[in-house]
Amino acid sequence: MKNILVTGGTGFIGSHTVLELLIQNYRVTVIDNLSNSKLESLKRVEKLTRKNAHFEHIDLLDVKALELLFQSSHFDAVIHFAGLKAVGESVEQPLKYYKNNISGTVNLCEAMNKAGIKNLVFSSSATVYGDPDSSPIPEKSPLKAVNPYGRTKLTIEYILRELHTSDNSWNVALLRYFNPVGAHESGEIGEDPNGIPNNLMPFITQVAIGKLKELNVFGGDYPTHDGTGIRDYIHVSDLAAGHIRALKKLEEKPGLVVYNLGTGKGSSVMDVIKAFEKASGKKIPYKITPRRPGDAAVCYADVSKANQELNWQTKRDLEDMCRDAWNWQQKNPNGYP
Ligand code: NAD
Ligand code: UD1
Repeated sequence: MKNILVTGGTGFIGSHTVLELLIQNYRVTVIDNLSNSKLESLKRVEKLTRKNAHFEHIDLLDVKALELLFQSSHFDAVIHFAGLKAVGESVEQPLKYYKNNISGTVNLCEAMNKAGIKNLVFSSSATVYGDPDSSPIPEKSPLKAVNPYGRTKLTIEYILRELHTSDNSWNVALLRYFNPVGAHESGEIGEDPNGIPNNLMPFITQVAIGKLKELNVFGGDYPTHDGTGIRDYIHVSDLAAGHIRALKKLEEKPGLVVYNLGTGKGSSVMDVIKAFEKASGKKIPYKITPRRPGDAAVCYADVSKANQELNWQTKRDLEDMCRDAWNWQQKNPNGYP
């Protein structure tokens, strides 16, 4: 598998994965509607790698454009990142999420089917475990959607399973990401959220640079070592590497596979604040506020399956994640131009 189509490849995780693909000499085509990203990310990936990726401005809801793409180019596999990901927005506008994420994926699979391309790596999420009973969470844990965004991920997992059952020449990797953070070590590519960030790490980096006054710590009364919520933060570059391993896995052993991609370690909000302060030398002002509705107390991965079967380990720790997120923020105070 050398020719890879990456949907959503100008986004946060997509751009880091395209970089890794180019470094490993894959030929890469990116499609994106640029609804939540800028082409600048890809330009920087090309500059960093001194290699080119082909870009087409295509929306997954545009069936004709997809068909034309698959008629005019050959791909061995597709890595499918394109989707909307804001939980709060998905509660306010569920139809937008069902249409974009689910219809977009169905359109993609139909176009792939027609072209006879049946290797797919899909961006799923730890959100499919809902509010987990216990952690570490193995892949066989019960699945549950607790908001429309999560329901799109879970539904797409089911769709892809059924597709594989109906035609076992489809090879599918469902990758369940835990909490991707950080940025490429160069500080040239990173996470560029619109408006006020919803997620912890970009909120902290914006407090550190003075764009936001203080961090609200959502809940100080969880049953955890310091009362704040625990998550499994994973460096985006380690996550990107997991995608290449998944492609190799589909090549070596075709079928449908499911993997958690995390570090297997839980860190509390206070742990993240401390690690960030250490990595950046900046003080992060914060106050404890009520819990955010829908948040689990503790959520971290059992990563033994991915470690063994993908021969993949994370290499970067929380301090590396904080250092790289801070480097990106400092170099790009307003994100991509
Ligand atoms: P992102 O928003 O940075 O990237 C997604 C990209 O998809 C964007 O560039 C966007 O413009 C594009 N896109 C959206 N809808 C499209 C459409 N209809 N047609 C073409 N392009 C479209 O998000 P990300 O953080 O890089 O996430 C990538 C994937 O991983 C998403 O599917 C997301 O749900 C999933 N995921 C992300 C996280 C996370 O914390 N970032 C966690 C678990 C899963
Ligand atoms: C969120 C999404 C989840 C998605 C994941 C990755 C929700 C409810 N869940 O997960 O579906 O897959 O992002 O993008 O939005 N926190 C604060 N203050 C803040 C922000 C966060 O204290 O300003 C805390 C949260 O309560 C949580 C931790 O930090 O304990 C991480 O939060 P966040 O980065 O938003 O990720 P998740 O909630 O795990």
